[in-house]
Amino acid sequence: MRLMLLGLIITLFVSVSFLNKGNAGITSTFVRSEWPSTDIPIDNEAFAVPKGHNAPQQVHITQGDYDGKAVIISWVTPDEPGPSKVLYGTSQNSYEFTAKGTVSNYSFYKYKSGFIHQCLVDGLEYDTKYYYKIGSGESAREFWFHTPPKIDPDAPYKFGIIGDLGQTYNSLSTLEHYIQSGAQTVLFVGDLSYADRYTYNDVGLRWDSWGRFVEKSTAYQPWIWSAGNHEIDYFPYMEEVTPFRSFLERYPTPYLASKSSNPLWYAIRRASAHIIVLSSYSPFVKYTPQWEWLSEELKKVDREKTPWLIVLMHVPIYNSNEAHYMEGESMRAVFESWFVHYKVDVVFAGHVHAYERSYRISNIHYNITSGDRYPIPDKSAPVYITVGDGGNQEGLAARFIDPQPDYSAFREASYGHSTFEIKNRTHAFYHWNRNDDGKKLATDSFLLHNQYWGSSHRRRKLKKHYLRSIVEGIYID
Ligand SMILES: *[C@@H]1O[C@H](CO)[C@@H](O)[C@H](O)[C@H]1NC(C)=O
Ligand SMILES: *[C@@H]1O[C@H](CO)[C@@H](O)[C@H](O)[C@H]1NC(C)=O
Ligand SMILES: *[C@@H]1O[C@H](CO)[C@@H](O)[C@H](O)[C@H]1NC(C)=O
Ligand SMILES: [Fe+2]
Repeated sequence: MRLMLLGLIITLFVSVSFLNKGNAGITSTFVRSEWPSTDIPIDNEAFAVPKGHNAPQQVHITQGDYDGKAVIISWVTPDEPGPSKVLYGTSQNSYEFTAKGTVSNYSFYKYKSGFIHQCLVDGLEYDTKYYYKIGSGESAREFWFHTPPKIDPDAPYKFGIIGDLGQTYNSLSTLEHYIQSGAQTVLFVGDLSYADRYTYNDVGLRWDSWGRFVEKSTAYQPWIWSAGNHEIDYFPYMEEVTPFRSFLERYPTPYLASKSSNPLWYAIRRASAHIIVLSSYSPFVKYTPQWEWLSEELKKVDREKTPWLIVLMHVPIYNSNEAHYMEGESMRAVFESWFVHYKVDVVFAGHVHAYERSYRISNIHYNITSGDRYPIPDKSAPVYITVGDGGNQEGLAARFIDPQPDYSAFREASYGHSTFEIKNRTHAFYHWNRNDDGKKLATDSFLLHNQYWGSSHRRRKLKKHYLRSIVEGIYID
């Protein structure tokens, strides 16, 4: 009962701070002593090539269907195609099943990729640990992953959020801290390898090193991919004019499962969450395929089954950093009213190399004829969170616009990652963890009340129930 009272106090505290949000939030004065923003040397052990002839490398998995009963396993073999099959099962060393995949390769100026394997493993059981084996003979490698619980409104689940990761020592720190967090799936908000910073003789190489760099997480749990500007890889002067080629060859997404026509935008459901991935660098204005798809997908969201509605994109819609200031306005103008109408819980973005969180605000009443409008507090609006602070290759975005605008709740120019820990249909805990030079530190954290189960008559009902039990509890105590 004391716990419930504590819960009520926390709820009151959160509501009070919500009412208070006319005041601008916090600009953290923490100054991080960062490592230089240069990539870790290519011969560093962080990029070690696995031993053995033609051994599979750059192993990564992602969700393979709409509801979490499938994974897509991808890997690269450097010397020859080798088998594209995955042996898997529920006990180590005895693999009951085999799945057959595909292999492809591509070239890009003078770069020739290795042999890229993709294999859909489906018909899995929920909430089960699977072991899998790829490669052949002495060079075979084994990994494992956990499938999510069955879709259920109260299924607890812990997501991590990483953006703009790159392959610097700052990136390594973020990755190591993320792995310690105990989160089960990464929601990745774009800008993976920064391989596009290398051209001519070095073009493409850093896609391979990055794949090896992240393998210690990506081989064991799904990373849900969205594309950033560093995935565009558009180099007419090197005759590379197929945008997103390397990303699409290497990082498949389950887009067909959500009836999308393009791997760059899609949706999945996992445990108690419905996750929508948008493409900031694909057309999204009215009547384009992405716009048509999103309008249909939002109608399919069933908050009775998946209470938590999360949107991922690369370019933030609310950003008070001088870097990339107002770049998200075009998407805001098109999609913000839908986010409010459908009561999205949280929108995660990257791109800006710093951390920022907004209050629940919207600016959907803007009217070019009647005059100015400003973002206003809006209980139906999502919280907007920018986590473009993975490590990148260009340094931190250290200059915030002064004074801090009213919509901005917390901002800090440091490296880190976030976790979003769903407890049940009404509560989720959010943390932003600054790397803090070796020690993981939860710097910004708050409790989210679900936008569907927390803001309608359902909340009043739940509250009455809680109040009654607290009053009874005090009485009994
Ligand atoms: C794919 O690999 C084969 C065998 O090494 C090679 O002959 C071919 O040119 C490669 N294709 C591309 C598009 O690079
Ligand atoms: C925009 O403002 C004008 C002038 O006040 C008004 O006539 C019009 O109805 C408004 N449009 C919308 C869509 O609210
Ligand atoms: C949901 O989780 C929160 C936080 O752990 C807890 O306080 C609350 O009682 C839970 N609600 C239900 C209905 O179990
Ligand atoms: Fe970016």
